[in-house]
Amino acid sequence: MSGQFSFSFSGDDIEDEGGASNFIAPSVSAPIQPQPAASAFPVAGKPLLPATSHDLHHMLSQLPSKIAYSTLDIDLDGNGTIQLPRRELWDVRVQLMAEDDGGDPKPGLGNHDVKTGVYEGGFKSWECSVDLVKVLSLSKSFLSEVEVAPRIIELGCGTALPSLALFQWSLGLRTCKKDSVLSMVLADYNPTVLQLVTLPNFILCWALHQRTDSPILENALCSEGELDLTPEVTKAFEDFLSDRGISLSFFSGGWSAEFVELIASNETSGTGDGSKRQTVILGAETIYSPFALNAFTHTIFSLMERERTHGHAAEALVGAKKLYFGVGGSLDDFVAKARELGANVEELREEAEGVRRGVVRCSLP
Ligand SMILES: C[S@@+](CC[C@H](N)C(=O)[O-])C[C@H]1O[C@@H](n2cnc3c(N)ncnc32)[C@H](O)[C@@H]1O
Repeated sequence: MSGQFSFSFSGDDIEDEGGASNFIAPSVSAPIQPQPAASAFPVAGKPLLPATSHDLHHMLSQLPSKIAYSTLDIDLDGNGTIQLPRRELWDVRVQLMAEDDGGDPKPGLGNHDVKTGVYEGGFKSWECSVDLVKVLSLSKSFLSEVEVAPRIIELGCGTALPSLALFQWSLGLRTCKKDSVLSMVLADYNPTVLQLVTLPNFILCWALHQRTDSPILENALCSEGELDLTPEVTKAFEDFLSDRGISLSFFSGGWSAEFVELIASNETSGTGDGSKRQTVILGAETIYSPFALNAFTHTIFSLMERERTHGHAAEALVGAKKLYFGVGGSLDDFVAKARELGANVEELREEAEGVRRGVVRCSLP
């Protein structure tokens, strides 16, 4: 079918797979019929979703009364582990089906990993997002900087494992408001992904981390694998973010000049007083087609150039497969393109076993 790819596992991409409930999408590089024209953005006659900002308070008000979750243990290569909670895919699916009004099928309810221009794969966690978590575990100290305000921008975040890991580490590192504001920007093509998995995962991460300090959270988590999202819980989440100086912002829509403008207009890092900011842009499995590669590269360059113009530090950490068979795009293409555009690119991590993939750091000279 035009523009739909199933990346190696057939059928239900949001189903419980016998215990490994929120499984990592295994191999995006399994054989797929080459369909470059059919799978390319923009889809004929279908405009990209517009860049849109989503208000956290409103998103919190739209959450269901309960979410189911499981946790994923990530081994940090000899430096311990991190346990990241994620909303269960079957729970997301139940909500999507309940909200199905019989009109256009909801993004993510079909048997495809990606449906170009409709659903870009954000309900599942993809392998390179785990690689990015491992890389970030070695450089997380910038989160507790007092002089330089850290800003994380995760593009194509989906379940947002890299940002979730940074958020979780920051809960341990940032214990009072004297630290500079930590700004976390979460962007996904699909607004439903932000609402149904990205935000719930942040709430879960906070609730599990803080439960021992809060009878409200202990109560809300009393059923195994479930979090009750009472008004008290969502209010406590907002209050906590404000107390710790953490700002969460959400953006959906296709990568474009308007998208960059929108993110830039929402700068919450309190740098109007001339203080410094360090921006880290994250992207895992975001360059799996020539269109995505192009749009993603231009977006991170625009964001980094803006930071440089204002005297702030910026870099991008990009995790991707070495090759996305059939659909084009690859980490090597990204590296070549970024170097062609004048960036410094450093290879930070390479996985030679299984599906070949890597993580690179990209910065402007
Ligand atoms: C395969 S998913 C990866 C999700 C997540 N980063 C992970 O690794 O688990 C690809 C992501 O890229 C984003 N994406 C792809 N093409 C895009 C475009 N043209 N504009 C905006 N976002 C796009 C989608 O939002 C989607 O979440």
